[in-house]
Amino acid sequence: VIINPESLNPGRRYFLMISCIIPRPIAWAGTVNEDGSNNLAPFSFFNGMSSTPPVVAIGFAPHEDKGQKDTLRNVLRTGEIAVSIPSRDLADKVSATSEDLTYGADEFVACELTPYFGGLVNAPLVREARVALECSLLRHIEFGDAGSSMVLAEIRAFHLDDRLIDNRGTVNPNSLQPLARLGGGFFTTLGEVFKPGQN
Ligand SMILES: Cc1cc2nc3c(=O)[nH]c(=O)nc-3n(C[C@H](O)[C@H](O)[C@H](O)COP(=O)(O)O)c2cc1C
Repeated sequence: VIINPESLNPGRRYFLMISCIIPRPIAWAGTVNEDGSNNLAPFSFFNGMSSTPPVVAIGFAPHEDKGQKDTLRNVLRTGEIAVSIPSRDLADKVSATSEDLTYGADEFVACELTPYFGGLVNAPLVREARVALECSLLRHIEFGDAGSSMVLAEIRAFHLDDRLIDNRGTVNPNSLQPLARLGGGFFTTLGEVFKPGQN
């Protein structure tokens, strides 16, 4: 079957797309609200885009009532965003932080998570995450006329749990056990880890 995306209504297009492009890593994005309180929300339209400079991308759907989601509004105002990478054991909290709280309500408090600041960027990292990235806004790119957009942000500091690092200075995937998103409300984590050509 070949499907023209324009033949689908926005909901069906979304559900098809998020079931095709899987698994998607999750950026647990921490930002600071206008009143100085912390904001935290998960985003799975997320990936690394470049390593020199080290750049990540996050995609934002519009907010039904407010136009912009709080995370987007905050990063555009402050230029600062923290991206924590949740592990499998944090799945329930990741899901809980996607609830639509009123602006200024702190998901760290509501979901019993511990915020901390790395010192370079004024945006809260999640202490419970094993990898967390301090980032600053590079560019905001808008698509179409429905209010969707993407933020490109540069990593200013990697915060890594020492126990994850292997002798080549990279993160051991089995220690990280990253949480990832599928379609249909499902999540996953790593299954088989292999190199092509090696059994
Ligand atoms: C696992 C997961 C992934 C999500 N990915 C996205 C995403 O990529 N883009 C998006 O706009 N919303 C995404 N959401 C929904 C946002 O987390 C949700 O709208 C949240 O309330 C936004 O919070 P904010 O208004 O504080 O930014 C996702 C939700 C979950 C649970």
